[in-house]
Amino acid sequence: MATAILSALPEEQEGLAALMTDTETVRHAGREFHRGRWQGAPVVFALSRIGKVAAATTAAALIERFGVQRIVFTGVAGGLHPEVRVGDTVIAGEFLQHDMDATPLFPRHEIPLYARSRFGADMALSATIFEAATADKTGVGGTFDAETIRRFGLQAMRVHRGLLVSGDRFVSSAGEARALREALPDALAVDMEGAAVAQVCHDYGIPFAAVRHISDRADDAAHVDFPAYLKAVAALQARAVITRFLSAQAQRP
Ligand code: ADE
Repeated sequence: MATAILSALPEEQEGLAALMTDTETVRHAGREFHRGRWQGAPVVFALSRIGKVAAATTAAALIERFGVQRIVFTGVAGGLHPEVRVGDTVIAGEFLQHDMDATPLFPRHEIPLYARSRFGADMALSATIFEAATADKTGVGGTFDAETIRRFGLQAMRVHRGLLVSGDRFVSSAGEARALREALPDALAVDMEGAAVAQVCHDYGIPFAAVRHISDRADDAAHVDFPAYLKAVAALQARAVITRFLSAQAQRP
């Protein structure tokens, strides 16, 4: 009953694989997969690299080659909704590909021949992640130094649940972010992988959930905010949530 922890970039799960026991690294499909045990429970850590195709390939490999029974994506995203700020956490409730457009053959965003534009996250998996993301009562001061808190304006316990949209674009202008908000008013955040993995997991009948920490506002400053956040904040946030999530998961029968 292995659980996969998938991210696009190394910073998004840095240091986590080293916390497993019985670790083995396998190279497959041009990627490294680290498998081992977390408090006795089988876990596989993998990096997809960026974009929908890379993420879909990695998800399919995790299922077909490594036999994982659930996938959790952890990483950063650009905030779209006015309430979603840098430093906040978004747990996906639904996934949609914002760049899917087969009009006029199919409605905008609908995935051709699936008769749907949205895939739901697994509710039980998402609930366990929500508990892990909200369990730390020490506030940001327990995880980050004062300078990092000030620089990124971090605030404790801002966790949102809702629509995560994905596309093969790094959204980095206020105009593009506004257009996405207008087309998809309930979108909380944008990434480049989540909805692709959701589609693969739907095809295989595998539970999927995603937790994204907001690195930027997908606006004109996104290209500056994203790498700074990735370096200073992303690994610590992922570590805090994923260690608690995997420990909770390991207690399940
Ligand atoms: N991941 C983090 N920030 C992003 C953005 N602005 N656009 C797409 N993916 C992102």
